[in-house]
Amino acid sequence: MSFKHSPMVRVADPVDKEALFTPEIRAEIDRWVAKYPPEWRQSAVMAGLRILQDHNGGWLTQPLMDDLAAYLDMPEVAVYEVATFYSMYSLEPVGRHKLCVCTNVSCMLNGSDRLVEHLEKRLGTRLGGTTEDGRFTLKEVECLGACGGAPVMQLGRQYYENLTPEILDSILDGLE
Ligand code: FES
Repeated sequence: MSFKHSPMVRVADPVDKEALFTPEIRAEIDRWVAKYPPEWRQSAVMAGLRILQDHNGGWLTQPLMDDLAAYLDMPEVAVYEVATFYSMYSLEPVGRHKLCVCTNVSCMLNGSDRLVEHLEKRLGTRLGGTTEDGRFTLKEVECLGACGGAPVMQLGRQYYENLTPEILDSILDGLE
């Protein structure tokens, strides 16, 4: 696992909590912190990771996670545990479009293997890989909570359900 720091997001020395992130990012995280009692601000860790990932081109760096730990008053290792447990977080650079294909039970029983095979062939990369032109990252994820529409893929904030290779092709054809 390698980490690279992004100056786009981290704007000041981590000792100064008020200046850890841009005002925009702090405001987004604070909206989630406000949902919990003050002594439980670490409950915003999942939202915080998602916000930082969105602002950092779709992936998380170790310095970003360390800054979040400082911001939420929690041990750095506790942030790493969350970031490495959930498949929605990426710890390596990703392509412009992150194709997250669910291969959990319902999706597997409804043809996710066929989708993965099709995507690997079309994109010329394996699960976990990024195309050479940096356009696509193909990622395997755990249940997306939309089993009724299996097989499912997440792209950005959008879920695509009841997928077939043909539908996948039309989705990819419509992307930059
Ligand atoms: S198993 Fe794929 S969405 Fe639940």
